[in-house]
Amino acid sequence: MRVAEEMNSARVFPSDLESFVIEAMRRYGLRDEDAQLSARILVMTDSWGVHTHGTRQLRPLLKNFPLGRLKADATAEVIREGVAWALMDGHHAVPFVTAYSAMQLAIQKARTAGIGYVSVIHTSHFGAAGYYATLAAEQKMIGMAMCNADPQMTIPGARGKVLGTNPIAYAIPGGHNRPIFLDIATSAVAANKIIRAKLLGQPIPEGWLTDSEGRPTTDPGGFPESGALMPMAAHKGYGFALLVEVLAGVMSGAALTKEQPSWVTGVAGNPPGPANQGQTFIAIDAGMMLSADGFQERIEWLADYIHESPKASGSERIYLPGEMEWERRDRALVEGMILPPDVVDSLMGLAQDVGIETLPFVALTENGK
Ligand SMILES: NC(=O)c1ccc[n+]([C@@H]2O[C@H](COP(=O)([O-])OP(=O)(O)OC[C@H]3O[C@@H](n4cnc5c(N)ncnc54)[C@H](O)[C@@H]3O)[C@@H](O)[C@H]2O)c1
Repeated sequence: MRVAEEMNSARVFPSDLESFVIEAMRRYGLRDEDAQLSARILVMTDSWGVHTHGTRQLRPLLKNFPLGRLKADATAEVIREGVAWALMDGHHAVPFVTAYSAMQLAIQKARTAGIGYVSVIHTSHFGAAGYYATLAAEQKMIGMAMCNADPQMTIPGARGKVLGTNPIAYAIPGGHNRPIFLDIATSAVAANKIIRAKLLGQPIPEGWLTDSEGRPTTDPGGFPESGALMPMAAHKGYGFALLVEVLAGVMSGAALTKEQPSWVTGVAGNPPGPANQGQTFIAIDAGMMLSADGFQERIEWLADYIHESPKASGSERIYLPGEMEWERRDRALVEGMILPPDVVDSLMGLAQDVGIETLPFVALTENGK
């Protein structure tokens, strides 16, 4: 369909969305192979239903290239390494591609050392942490991915932003199930959920946000200029955000907390220079202590045990982490997926930025059909 002025949600097939994203990235001067890999990552994320961190992020990320905050012709490189670890300099290359190559290196190291730990500096927004963790699970390894983002989150006792929403994800080979994966911000919710509510003019649930005085609020209107996200589960989320800051940021030499520029361009008060996130990717050979088969049998037992646990009154089903995402992807491949209005808006803006006239969307009418 043609780019329209007004759009709500829209239905799209993953392959069509991927083609659109590749073309938009090419028009920004990105290499073909980088555009294709990035598109695969972002569209996979959307097909999981994680629309806050899929193709919606592409438009603001691409704006970094003309400003020199990201470099289309750069490639990440290893600058220090041991048998089981490596430190990479991202050189401000396409961050999805850098993150992918860092996890591939962690997997390679885990093949010989049992575990691989790879950190990257001088890099930017990698989208959903979960994608990279699942790469390890596909190779019968346990994967972890995390990054230290710029501060958006408060901590118990503080007023205002202190730490990033520092996402952490793990993925586990699931035996006869698909990879089990948990992919979460360490804040109560990802910042984009607040931005989305603000754009849609909707209040947010209690426990997500504090106002400029550090008091809990359900009004997203002041964020991100003032106020701060609340950590997930109070001190527990704070503790995990701090762990990520250390594993991804302190150990690697990346910029920390208030010295971390936002990856989004034009943010007021942004420290000068490009984002210098620390991102860490860990791969662990799941069969190293028993055997690959021993691990598989035990994980299947555990998954069955969880699935078959007695259900709460009114509950129809117990899910493993990641299960909802895989089922959404299955549906998306057959029926297409529904992109929420803010994603549609972002993609339409991107199409206008790069002069693409034809979008891959099927617009939904008011009753959602
Ligand atoms: N790159 C960044 O700077 C950055 C920062 C923050 C968040 N993020 C991304 O934002 C995304 C969303 O984060 P979020 O905190 O809003 O996630 P969320 O609160 O929606 O939680 C999603 C996770 O919880 C699992 N889950 C949900 N309900 C479940 C149930 N009933 N049983 C079992 N598992 C269940 C899902 O499978 C999934 O793994 C993630 O992809 C994260 O990586 C990225």
